[in-house]
Amino acid sequence: MNEEKLLAAEKIEKEFPGTKALKGVSVDLRKGEVHAVAGENGAGKSTLMNILSGGMRQTSGNIYIEGKQVSFSNTKEAQKAGIGLVHQELALFPELTVAENIFVERLPQRKGFVHKEELNRQASEVLEQFHSGIKPTQLVEELSVSEQQIVEIAKVVSEECRIIIFDEPTSSLNEEEACQLFKIIGELKKREWAFTISAISCLKFLRSATGLRS
Ligand SMILES: Nc1ncnc2c1ncn2[C@@H]1O[C@H](COP(=O)(O)OP(=O)(O)OP(=O)(O)O)[C@@H](O)[C@H]1O
Ligand SMILES: [Mg+2]
Repeated sequence: MNEEKLLAAEKIEKEFPGTKALKGVSVDLRKGEVHAVAGENGAGKSTLMNILSGGMRQTSGNIYIEGKQVSFSNTKEAQKAGIGLVHQELALFPELTVAENIFVERLPQRKGFVHKEELNRQASEVLEQFHSGIKPTQLVEELSVSEQQIVEIAKVVSEECRIIIFDEPTSSLNEEEACQLFKIIGELKKREWAFTISAISCLKFLRSATGLRS
């Protein structure tokens, strides 16, 4: 196994009752690399993204992080190993603030209550990197889809994931919003974050790609 590879998936297969969603799919991802997985509807993109980020187990095949074989029972375990997923359907709590969403599982406490100042301070620190103008105290339901996506990315970044998996991140963005997203990816890429992106017009960032077919 080549140590330079941050993430490697080898011969991944996934069978659902009556469907073989993935057949012998191999993907390599190196530091600072953006890897696209392209394919038509039903080709298995979401299935692959879910397997790589711990949301689902493969029927067979292996996954390696920096040359070491890993097996995730859930997304928490993948997160600990540095892999975060930005979902195809955004998965935020609309009625909570941006800061609460970013730190939903790690809310800073003081005397048994959420320490709001500290929470908002930590969230500001993460959000600053994205130059988006999004405020920690804003409600997520007041944000545009692309802003919500930035919040999801901020959440993954705050969890110190070095590998970000996007499942069709531009499917609900307009061209300008997609450009903004690519700008953010470009910035993180310089800091050796690595990305796997499913099925989008990300040619500008492409070094490597995997095609899936149903
Ligand atoms: N939980 C499941 N149970 C049974 N079959 C499933 C399940 N999830 C996906 N499939 C099937 O696996 C195949 C791949 O689906 P998947 O959602 O991964 O495709 P996709 O490439 O993400 O498609 P889309 O472009 O529509 O998002 C499809 O035939 C789908 O019906
Ligand atoms: Mg999908």
